[in-house]
Formats: sequence, C-alpha cells, structure tokens
Amino acid sequence: MAAKPSVAKRLVVLVSGSGTNLQALLDEIAATGAEAYGAEIVAVGADRDGIEGLARAERAGIPTFVTKVRDHGSREEWDAALTGAVAAHEPDLVVSAGFMKIVGKEFLARYGGRFVNTHPALLPSFPGAHGVRDALAYGARVTGCTVHFVDDGVDTGPIIAQGVVEVRDEDDESALHERIKDVERRLLVEVVGRLARNGYRIEGRKVVIQ
Ligand code: GRF
Repeated sequence: MAAKPSVAKRLVVLVSGSGTNLQALLDEIAATGAEAYGAEIVAVGADRDGIEGLARAERAGIPTFVTKVRDHGSREEWDAALTGAVAAHEPDLVVSAGFMKIVGKEFLARYGGRFVNTHPALLPSFPGAHGVRDALAYGARVTGCTVHFVDDGVDTGPIIAQGVVEVRDEDDESALHERIKDVERRLLVEVVGRLARNGYRIEGRKVVIQ
C-alpha cells in the first residue's frame, strides 16, 4: 500500500541569533507531531554562522544553510542566493524568526504572501531593529509582539496576530525583551500552526485565517 502523503506544510525558518523562537517551533512539532501541528521544518537558514539558532537546528537533525551578504557582490546577488537556497527546500511558508536582514525584490516576488516575520513590538509602533529599546525609550506603558507577513517595507506588512506585554518601571531592554519573547514564542507557534492547518487569505491589510 502506498504511504499516505504527508499533509504537513513545509517550513523554512530563517534565524540570525539565539533561535529560541525556532526552538519553540521545533518543540511543538516534536510534541504534537508534524501532521497534527500542520507543518514540519525542512530547513533552517541564516545570514551568519556560529549562532545558537543553527546549532539548535543541527541538534534536531534539520538541514541548515548560511547565506552571508559579504560573500556576494551586491545586495541583489545576496537576495538571489538567499531565494535560491530557500527554494531548494520547496517551502510552503518561510518564517523569519529573529532574521535580522531585509530581503529584496527577488525573495518577495517568490515568497510574498508566504513569508511570516515576528517583531518584538506592537506594530505599527516601533518598527526596525530596536523595537524593544525604542518602546522603552519612548515611555510606552504597553508593548508586545507582532506576527505579520513581510512586504517591501520595514515591518509594514499585513498583521496576523499580536500579543501585549506591560512595561514595568524597573524594566531595562533585556528584561523587557525576555518577557516579550515569552509571549512571542507562544504566539508564533500558534499562528504558524493555524496558517498551516487552516489556510488563509490576505485581503489588503487583513489576514483571514480560514
Ligand atoms: C525576537 O524577539 C524577534 O522578534 C527579534 O529578535 C528576537 C529573536 O529571538 N527580531 P530568538 O533568536 O528567536 O531567540
């Protein structure tokens, strides 16, 4: 009898750092099973080597790749190489889990509407690389995290889900970021699973999960 084809969607996860969001996805998939969760991680990519995010993937037996900007003649060439490296794993969805690079036109032409990012602030407030620091410096009393589709702006794409975290008087950037990441990891796991299992459509700025 032929094996039942897997219904799990194929995910490529991109990382640049400690990879705790990646780990949350790995743990959930290991605990639930890829079919029940709706997705499996088929590869993990990074823009640098020597990071814990890649080590986590290796420990889980997941193929990894590294595409560095400095190994390419231009940003466009890097973007094309990244697109090719991701495409080699034929993902249904690509997840940027702390991937600290802005992708270019070629990547978005191929993965626009299928490229999910998590950002440690309540967008549209505090976009960019220092969302936690900027919210703290502004004196915001609540901040949080946003899981969204990536478009050609910086943290401007359609929002899928958000989680709220209160700012405490004694917070510094690292304490606040840790509490945001607690919420962020759970939100990312929940959102990616729902997108994968249920399917979705993007209507302008609204994301409708079926
Ligand atoms: C997350 O807060 C993400 O939103 C931000 O960087 C952090 C990555 O953490 N861009 P980790 O590498 O998943 O631990």
